[in-house]
Amino acid sequence: MNKSVNGSTPQSLREAPRWWSSAVVYQIYPRSFRDANGDGIGDLQGISERLDYLAWLGVDAIWISPFYPSPMRDFGYDVSNYLGVDPVFGTLADFDAMLARAHELGMKVVIDFVPNHTSDQHPWFAQSRASRSSAKRDWYLWRDPEPGGGPPNNWKSVTGGSAWAFDEATGQYYLHSFLPFQPDLNWRNPDVEEAIFDALRYWLDRGVDGIRVDMFDFLFKDARFRDEDDPDYTFATSKRHINQPELLDVLERYRSTIDTYPDRLLIGEIFPETEIDRLRSYYGRGNRMNLPFNFKLLSTPFDAPNLRRAIEAYLDGINGAGTPNFTLGNHDTVRLASRIGADNVNLAAILLLTLPGAIFLYYGDELGLAQADIPPDRVQDPWEHRVPGKGRDGARTPMPWSDEAHAGFGAADEAWLPVPVEHRFSSVAQLKADDVSTLSLYRNLITIRRSAPAIRSGSLAFCQAPSNVLCYSRKADGQELWIVLNLSDEQVRLPEFSSEKSALVISSDDQQTRQTPECLEIGPRQGAIFQSSDDCSTRQRKPEPTASINQEPAPWDVKSLLLP
Ligand code: GLC
Ligand code: CA
Repeated sequence: MNKSVNGSTPQSLREAPRWWSSAVVYQIYPRSFRDANGDGIGDLQGISERLDYLAWLGVDAIWISPFYPSPMRDFGYDVSNYLGVDPVFGTLADFDAMLARAHELGMKVVIDFVPNHTSDQHPWFAQSRASRSSAKRDWYLWRDPEPGGGPPNNWKSVTGGSAWAFDEATGQYYLHSFLPFQPDLNWRNPDVEEAIFDALRYWLDRGVDGIRVDMFDFLFKDARFRDEDDPDYTFATSKRHINQPELLDVLERYRSTIDTYPDRLLIGEIFPETEIDRLRSYYGRGNRMNLPFNFKLLSTPFDAPNLRRAIEAYLDGINGAGTPNFTLGNHDTVRLASRIGADNVNLAAILLLTLPGAIFLYYGDELGLAQADIPPDRVQDPWEHRVPGKGRDGARTPMPWSDEAHAGFGAADEAWLPVPVEHRFSSVAQLKADDVSTLSLYRNLITIRRSAPAIRSGSLAFCQAPSNVLCYSRKADGQELWIVLNLSDEQVRLPEFSSEKSALVISSDDQQTRQTPECLEIGPRQGAIFQSSDDCSTRQRKPEPTASINQEPAPWDVKSLLLP
């Protein structure tokens, strides 16, 4: 009856358990986390000040979006020096202090690394554009105009328009896969690889625990610069432009560089979520990436059939090639609560925290924050100026820490992006004080995840369930947990879940989820994690067979039910 998902073994067959095997990785957008010096922009000292909160939440690692020197035209994804910290974020000493504090608290630190392009203000590009005979000319991708004039081919930038910008002074075009101020490096030039790997070693030497590589699949472009056949191509349908065979070779060199340091994590941003074979190839035989990002759930409709299909297809597809990973939000995507609806936020928390492998949690999603409305005169993201509607500011507003002035983000009268009024009522301080808040649920789920072998390393099998109820079990080391998410607006009855199972956590305290000797009734948009009541680890706490979940002293008090 249960279908076991083929790729359900979360741990790679080829990779022994590592610190990221079931890690919760928390993404920090540094401009927006905490502003320690009161200039309206978040900074590294601000991150240090709030690491205690992340330790309280229980995350295993943080991933910090870029903090390198940058003209900030793409807010740090336009790097002008790979070996430093932008003054707006602080100093290298602030970075070292932050790293040391994170390590003291038992958290790993992953940094963002942007090797596809630099800022046009990077000295490498200044030298490259200075003349056609410059020693660094070939560090970027320069081409002559078409014979009749115009760009060398029909490649498009991800943000719309041609991917080529004309340089008057030298009479050639340079390639920019993103914005015109982000020229693409030429990865076929070995000096470029060497310079970037030097930068990699610089940060690994400082003690960072992992690297998240930006836009990995863009590093190489067709060596012959051929047109895309279909001029209306998108990056998903691109046949020529990106995803070149050399990628996997350079990836192995990234791996071997990183592997000269013990226990470091390599994550890569790639976009073949529709092409699972290619995604699997990024794992290699343990000699490529540890975690090729799985972005599939960012675009999966939040209903049971679609979620099941997406999860099954992914786990089947990677087929044990490496550690799976899941993500529901990031700095490029509309905030989770607005994508799936506020009434699904707690279900999403249960889903994410009970999936196998590493999971990524975007700052503020643990508060259930909705996408912010940004008034036109406060727009910051250049993508919004280029393609209205594509802007990402609404997912990047300051973290609300309290209901004090400026939501406790910092002392400045005006932060770089406004804090939406409604976010102040979902601040960390308020939600922390509320036992049944989304934040408390996240924390409880993280506690369970850290301690339950079934979630950390167990197999995953979907169960048959009424329509729009997602039900799966996780099983390891004699422990079996069942996750039931009612994604419908109706109360559902599950006769399979009679009283021999007890709730470890439920998504809400509104009494609609009840357990009787005959069945489990689960309220609309509610979810729960169950364990066998005779699970040896919790036997002493076995509930009375007739007790309803809500008469249990504290379904929320996870500590009292904790597994060893
Ligand atoms: C990645 C980043 C995004 C950035 C782009 C260009 O997609 O996540 O924020 O704008 O690369 O570097
Ligand atoms: Ca600041």
